[in-house]
Amino acid sequence: MKFGFLGAGVVAQTIARHLLPFGHEVVLSNSRGPETLADVVARLGRGASAGTPQQAADQDVVVLSVDWANVPKALASVSDWSGRILIDATNRIDRNNPSDLGDLSGRTSSEIVSDHAVGAKVVKAFNTIPMQWIDDASPNKPKTTLFISGDDATAKKALGGVLEQIGFAAVDLGSLEIGGRLQQVGGPLAALNLTLVDRFAL
Ligand SMILES: NC(=O)c1ccc[n+]([C@@H]2O[C@H](COP(=O)([O-])OP(=O)(O)OC[C@H]3O[C@@H](n4cnc5c(N)ncnc54)[C@H](OP(=O)(O)O)[C@@H]3O)[C@@H](O)[C@H]2O)c1
Repeated sequence: MKFGFLGAGVVAQTIARHLLPFGHEVVLSNSRGPETLADVVARLGRGASAGTPQQAADQDVVVLSVDWANVPKALASVSDWSGRILIDATNRIDRNNPSDLGDLSGRTSSEIVSDHAVGAKVVKAFNTIPMQWIDDASPNKPKTTLFISGDDATAKKALGGVLEQIGFAAVDLGSLEIGGRLQQVGGPLAALNLTLVDRFAL
C-alpha cells in the first residue's frame, strides 16, 4: 500500500521504517516543502519519497503525525477529506506544557481530528507508545501491541491487516468515542507497553 504522512518527524520516520521492508511505499510531507526532506527520504531508502501535504493525502492511507498545535493547519492543507483513510497518531499534548492535559471530559482527541477532516475515515493508532519502544524495525523485533479505534470497520480492517503483516499485534478497541478515550493521552491504555515476545516461551 501507499502511505502518506502529514508530518515527517519521529513518528513518521519510525512507522516508515517498519512499512518499507514489506514493500509498502511512503510519501512524507511537512510545512516547509518536499525539498527540505531530501536527506530524510534518502536515509529511509527505496520506496520513500517527499511530497506536499496534498500529495501525501492522495495516498491509500494518510497518517497524521504532527504536534497537536499543528493539527488544524495540517488538515486544512488538504482540499477534500471525503472517503480518505486518516490514521490519527497524535496526542493532545502541549509540547511546552506536557503535564497539562486540559479538559478530557468532552469529545475525544480523534473526534476533534475528525471535525477538522470532514468525511475522512479516522482511525486512532500509534499514539499509545513512545516511538523508542518500536525503534527496532528488524525481522526479529518484539511483537508489540498497538491499539486502534475508529468508527469505520473497513478502515480499521485495512490498518489492522497491515499492522499484523509488519509484525505488530493489533487490538481493536471500538469506536473513536469509546476506544479513543481508552487509548488517548490520559486514558488507561496510553503508554502501556504490551510486548508478546515471550508469550509462548517455555
Ligand atoms: N515521538 C513519539 O514517540 C510519539 C509517539 C506517539 C505519538 N506521538 C505524537 O505524534 C505527533 C508527532 O510527534 P513527533 O514526535 O513525530 O513530532 P516531530 O518529530 O516534532 O515531527 C512533527 C512533524 O510535523 C511537521 N509539521 C509541522 N506542521 C506541519 C503542517 N502544517 N503540515 C505538515 N507537517 C507539519 C514538522 O515539520 P516542519 O516543522 O518542518 O513543518 C515535523 O516533521 C505528536 O502529536 C505526538 O504527540 C509522538
